[in-house]
Amino acid sequence: MDEQRMIVSDRLNEVEEVIEKSLRPSNLAQYIGQEPLKEQLEIYIKAAKAREEALDHVLLFGPPGLGKTTMAFVIANELGVNLRQTSGPAIEKPGDLVAVLNELEAGDVLFIDEIHRLPKIAEELLYSAMEDFYVDILVGQGVAAHPMHFSLPPFTLIGATTRAGMLSEPLRARFGIMSHMEYYKVEELQEIVDRSAEIFNVEIESNGAFEIARRSRGTPRIANRLLKRVRDFSQVKSDGVIRKKQADEALTMLCVDSCGLDIVDRKLMKALIEMYNGGPVGIGTLAVNVSEDAETIEDMYEPYLIQIGFIRRTMRGREATAAAYTHFGYTVDKSL
Ligand SMILES: Nc1ncnc2c1ncn2[C@@H]1O[C@H](COP(=O)(O)OP(=O)(O)OP(=O)(O)O)[C@@H](O)[C@H]1O
Ligand SMILES: [Mg+2]
Repeated sequence: MDEQRMIVSDRLNEVEEVIEKSLRPSNLAQYIGQEPLKEQLEIYIKAAKAREEALDHVLLFGPPGLGKTTMAFVIANELGVNLRQTSGPAIEKPGDLVAVLNELEAGDVLFIDEIHRLPKIAEELLYSAMEDFYVDILVGQGVAAHPMHFSLPPFTLIGATTRAGMLSEPLRARFGIMSHMEYYKVEELQEIVDRSAEIFNVEIESNGAFEIARRSRGTPRIANRLLKRVRDFSQVKSDGVIRKKQADEALTMLCVDSCGLDIVDRKLMKALIEMYNGGPVGIGTLAVNVSEDAETIEDMYEPYLIQIGFIRRTMRGREATAAAYTHFGYTVDKSL
């Protein structure tokens, strides 16, 4: 995988996971941005604690790296309860889910990442677990099979997904609190970069933090990764202090452009503009042209390109906007 892909990839290696953990805010006050969600949660958490009840189930959705996992840990911490973690793909059969549910104590948080990838049969078990805190499953095989009823303590399910659209309606309806995580504002990312720099013990000037923030695609995970790369660059090429100049040079070397777009984004926009005359074209066709699978494009690249107004989704497919033509140096087609 080349450097550019590493920056935006959501598949983390172990070292990166350890670093990510160290950078994770642990309470609501440290959690930067997502103000409307934090404001709501503050109220619901207080109320649940005062009533000594489990918090309502929470569904967090949005592009990778915006802080869904972080928020799940923050919620458990604020509630003062344990967090048990699993993910959709890790649960293969109903028994796997029952095993996790079995470990829960009253008020605990069960965090299910990639909840849209939960097998249907496990998802159906969640319906009664979430609504009435019990599950009924068949134990044993053949003639010896018999139903068993498990009562569960009240708990809070926190589901995270990059694709809310792939969640079934009955599951979605069982979440009392739902939030779409938004891309972060530059000022918020700048705060995140400053905070991470402090944890890394590296000196950074505000124009340096701003430059990194501005080129981080609205995403804290990317901001932290770019910070690490810029830190290396400053350390080797200058006095270790991160200023705008070092940030700019390091990011340019990484082929991260002034809008934070990388090589894959550029390939994607180039294909759309040059080969399909700006569209409309289907996402599958575009994905093939940049040698990526459609899911990766839809989860990781397209949302940001839509957010900054470079791609428009229409009934007939994806279209490039006039702003995209201008940014990539093409003459604007007057009909756009
Ligand atoms: N609001 C925030 N304030 C400070 N740092 C944050 C914030 N949100 C995320 N981060 C940083 O970004 C990293 C990535 O966040 P996180 O793993 O929670 O994203 P995610 O939405 O769960 O991503 P994925 O969809 O890939 O699982 C965290 O380790 C943390 O360092
Ligand atoms: Mg996550």
